[in-house]
Amino acid sequence: MSFQGLTFGVVREVMQAERRVAATPATVKKMVSAGGHVLVEAGAGVGSHFSDAEYEAAGAKVLADVEALFAQADVILKVKEPQPRPSHQKHEVDMMRAGQCLVTFLHPASPDNHELIRNLAARGVVSFTLDSVPRTSRAQSMDALTSMSTVAGYKAVLMAADRLPKFMPMVGTAVGTLPPAKVLVLGAGVAGLQAIATARRLGAVVQAADVREEASTHAKSVGAKLIDLQIPAEVAVGEGGYARTLPDEWLERERIILAEHVAQADLVITTALVPGREAPMLVTEAMVESMVSGSVIVDISIDQGGNCEVTEPGKIIERHGVSIYGTKNIPGMLPTSSTWMFANNIYNYVANLVRNGRIELDTTDDIVLSSLVTRDGRIVHAGALEAMERHKDD
Ligand code: NAI
Repeated sequence: MSFQGLTFGVVREVMQAERRVAATPATVKKMVSAGGHVLVEAGAGVGSHFSDAEYEAAGAKVLADVEALFAQADVILKVKEPQPRPSHQKHEVDMMRAGQCLVTFLHPASPDNHELIRNLAARGVVSFTLDSVPRTSRAQSMDALTSMSTVAGYKAVLMAADRLPKFMPMVGTAVGTLPPAKVLVLGAGVAGLQAIATARRLGAVVQAADVREEASTHAKSVGAKLIDLQIPAEVAVGEGGYARTLPDEWLERERIILAEHVAQADLVITTALVPGREAPMLVTEAMVESMVSGSVIVDISIDQGGNCEVTEPGKIIERHGVSIYGTKNIPGMLPTSSTWMFANNIYNYVANLVRNGRIELDTTDDIVLSSLVTRDGRIVHAGALEAMERHKDD
């Protein structure tokens, strides 16, 4: 694979509190070794602890002027969707040109981003979104969502442990033995499994619940005791082995089963999600009230509405003596590791796009097909088009 003749632009992220960046000095070095030119905006790596000098040593050219960077690059690499640049009184989309490529997280189905997607199409930008890379084995090394869920599951447990007024492990002392904390993890997908493993490493006793048998088996293998939700596979699992949205009566039964376990938990990490849907509400306010004062809930699924009835997006609140985290962008709180994974994912994604030194829109490739958002002035992403149709009268 050759990047000969291609210029990549790595932009400094300007969204508030965003500390990640789309390339590390190591991935820049790989792009340069493959014949590419790499432009890095000055200070782009500071939040993740990579200096301009390290990017230069890896073969990049560091540019202070972001407009010059946009003007010279063929492919823009970013973490978050394009943003307004108050310093230039311009939106980043308005710095882009027809035929220029953009690879980032665009979340194109989210109504908040519809205007942005329309603007990208109107400008003729060829945009790709990493959140639509399929979860197949060939795409695994490009799956940035999985990487970020891994970080979120780990960091959520650390945040909660820090807030908890008790030890996580069992601790023997001269005055007696303190029992280990009880952790409950709801949803045992990527984030949930990492949360279970992290809580176990800290010495907690961990219980987990998932509607899919496969996820439950994995949860058990990383040290969780399983809660039997008593939901038949034909109700819980749909096409491709993914979880289904449960009918209301089954969801209610699940809440009844979970209630006694939530009441006994010191720490609840909620990660339950059906892809493309609103997150199921699993922890009611009454269940929060039943918890011991000082307990902690981290509602990781907050971007899809959350799994707990009282979580507030982007906030840490206290209800009935329980701390409830609705923190968004948890991966941004572990920027060096998040960036390391994200930069490798985006590098592998771009390497798959490039054929003979050019970006090829090979729509027979399921990875390209599912992640392509705009091309030739049109929006082509199925999820975005469907969501735009649904929200057209909003
Ligand atoms: P995933 O799809 O791998 O796992 C979700 C799991 O929930 C699946 O195993 C599914 O079977 C299970 N599930 C679905 N319905 C359920 C129900 N009614 N009861 C119990 N389990 C149920 O998803 P992943 O990658 O682990 O992500 C989990 C969540 O974390 C997502 O909402 C994602 O957006 C979020 N996330 C949040 C971040 C943040 O900064 N707050 C960062 C990264 C991910």
